[in-house]
Amino acid sequence: MSEKQPRVFPADFLWGSATASYQIEGAANEDGRTPSIWDTFCRTPGKVFQGDTGDVACDHYHRWADDLDLMSELGLKAYRFSVSWSRVQPTGRGPAVQRGLDFYRSLADGLLERGITPAITLYHWDLPQELEDAGGWPARETAERFAEYAQLVASALGDRISMWTTLNEPFCSSFLGYGSGVHAPGRTEPESVLKAAHHLNLAHGLGVRALRDTLPADAKVGITVNPGVIRARTEAPEDLDAARRIDALHTRIFTDPLLHGTYPEDLREDTAHISDWSFVRDGDEATIHQEIDFLGLNYYNPTVVSAPVGGRKAPRNDGHGASEHSPWVGSESVEFHLAAGERTDMGWVVDPTGLTDLLRRFGAERPDLPLYVTENGAAFDDKVDANGAVHDPNRIGYLHGHLDAVHQAIGLGVDVRGYFLWSLLDNFEWAYGYSKRFGVVHVDFETLRRTPKASARWYAEVVGSGRLPA
Ligand code: NOJ
Repeated sequence: MSEKQPRVFPADFLWGSATASYQIEGAANEDGRTPSIWDTFCRTPGKVFQGDTGDVACDHYHRWADDLDLMSELGLKAYRFSVSWSRVQPTGRGPAVQRGLDFYRSLADGLLERGITPAITLYHWDLPQELEDAGGWPARETAERFAEYAQLVASALGDRISMWTTLNEPFCSSFLGYGSGVHAPGRTEPESVLKAAHHLNLAHGLGVRALRDTLPADAKVGITVNPGVIRARTEAPEDLDAARRIDALHTRIFTDPLLHGTYPEDLREDTAHISDWSFVRDGDEATIHQEIDFLGLNYYNPTVVSAPVGGRKAPRNDGHGASEHSPWVGSESVEFHLAAGERTDMGWVVDPTGLTDLLRRFGAERPDLPLYVTENGAAFDDKVDANGAVHDPNRIGYLHGHLDAVHQAIGLGVDVRGYFLWSLLDNFEWAYGYSKRFGVVHVDFETLRRTPKASARWYAEVVGSGRLPA
């Protein structure tokens, strides 16, 4: 195909945008909601930029109907959102809070009325604080609690939502939450990272079972992961080995049990001095290896690694905040490198080829499994100009490049069914607070006024026509 032709996407391609509960909802103390680990973390001095919190965020809890109208104006076909566990089951156990469930029921109904497909994520990092106090993800019981919560949400919403995701990016929940400590709950305990990863995997498996028992037979159930696109700095064996180690920790620790039913042998060997892995009980890997209907992939940028060069201490490369602790349990000596090229406001290099590579990898690994890009997008320092407009050509460039990368993967035969742009709204970017703007809609965090950026109009055109301009 010539470079000049528009890229035409399949007619039934699911065009959407994504958000997450703690990042947009606010109303942190309303209608029976109790603190999650992120409410606590935000109140821990020095953890979140300028002490920002999700107390108000985008106030989506009160403005959801207007936000749905915005989505309609943009012509979105689907919307990926997450449920705040603390809102529907505040202590992480026992009966549901009706008002919490009512919020998500209204949201789902509002989407359906506007012809937008709801795609629900059960866990996007906001664990009820009581469950963290009882041990958090390093404790096996948290996985069992998650299955109960999944069942409870499925009973309430299963009649109106057909696309269900158990977890979002379990890598961040475990490695950043319990390894580098840049995410809630901010613990820095190497063995806990591995236990947390396993119990998140187990939560997924038990959660899928609970969902299958509760949802209508035609509901689609999956998970969203953020595999690393790991590139060795050179072809030298020691650099390739560094890439292998980080791939095991970043990606295969989740995707191998999920897609193939076993933890990688090299991962167990690389971490043998940290843990004997006795937390994996007989039958767990089979439990994790449930049949799923789709795999959600989040992609932002690739990662370049090498063996130690000059004895420098390896900087982390997760881009999610500073910590003196490495999340890379057992591979702390691997070095991370900044690839050359344009960067977003997160400091992440812009490299769409990584998205094609990622889709090709999982397309080859499990050709039977439909894939969705459940997140992709970029932060830039956008400003509303004197005319009330927001010009964000760099975001349009980023999205163009990455949608082209998706189109290429489809052209190569990969079964990619949809794309969810991160994010609809500027929102609470975790340890960076409100300082990083990922939205195609600008939010003024003083007035909470929404202003669609040029990228929103651009995306609406793409969604409406099903084609990416040349
Ligand atoms: C992935 C996470 O799922 C989302 O919550 C976050 O805001 C984006 N990456 C950008 O960092």
